[in-house]
Amino acid sequence: MNFYIKSFSCRFRKLKKSKQIFFNKYFNFFNINYKNKLINFNKIFNNQLPIVIDIGFGIDNNIINIVMNNIKYNFIGIEVYLPGIIKCLKKIIKYKIKNLKLIYYDVFFVLKNMIPNCSIKIIQLFFPDPWPKVKHQKRRLLKKNFLKIIYSKLTDNGILYIVTDCNNYKKDIISNIEDLNKSCFFFKKSNCYKNIYENFDLISLNTNFFNKAKKENKIIYHIEYKKIKLFK
Ligand SMILES: C[S@@+](CC[C@H](N)C(=O)[O-])C[C@H]1O[C@@H](n2cnc3c(N)ncnc32)[C@H](O)[C@@H]1O
Repeated sequence: MNFYIKSFSCRFRKLKKSKQIFFNKYFNFFNINYKNKLINFNKIFNNQLPIVIDIGFGIDNNIINIVMNNIKYNFIGIEVYLPGIIKCLKKIIKYKIKNLKLIYYDVFFVLKNMIPNCSIKIIQLFFPDPWPKVKHQKRRLLKKNFLKIIYSKLTDNGILYIVTDCNNYKKDIISNIEDLNKSCFFFKKSNCYKNIYENFDLISLNTNFFNKAKKENKIIYHIEYKKIKLFK
């Protein structure tokens, strides 16, 4: 796969043995192991509620607050940062949360290999790693190829929702989406990602990176696109 570049660098101190044991004991039981096989959401959640994917939820309580306040949705949290996964897993067990499943793996492969096409109502990314230095920008996740994959996973009228405090990344994302919209090859001449301005009740943002940006008085950009079907 020549366009894949790792979008993260996982640096964390070696886990305490007790945490590793906790992870080994409970992760598989409550969550989803990476497999090169499509997920059957009905089977996993035992219902047909719409699915929301949170990419890179980090290590705060934001995802837990959202899932507990939105029981009419099922959530998939995808993260490669093990301390974040373990913290979230503890909350899933403590609060007996049924509408959230975690996947501990690179989202690029999870979306590509595990998520059925046209199955996701909302895909959200809060403060994706901005890789601000020019020489690192190639590591940004939201490049055209990945935005194409996201598009294919959204349902009709599904929403891609991104929040960032990096102006340069925001511009980059918008220009990538606009380029995709222009591309006859992929979108068959249609403008399929439509820019929207909606305030989701679903989201009351309170992530670590959001709070850090607010403290530093940074501008926070909300990027919202809807998958619009122009062809029957
Ligand atoms: C800047 S942090 C933002 C964390 C949190 N959403 C917040 O707003 O505080 C970006 C997160 O994305 C995760 N991440 C980056 N690339 C990823 C990938 N390819 N697959 C899954 N998670 C990824 C990182 O591990 C990190 O936790």
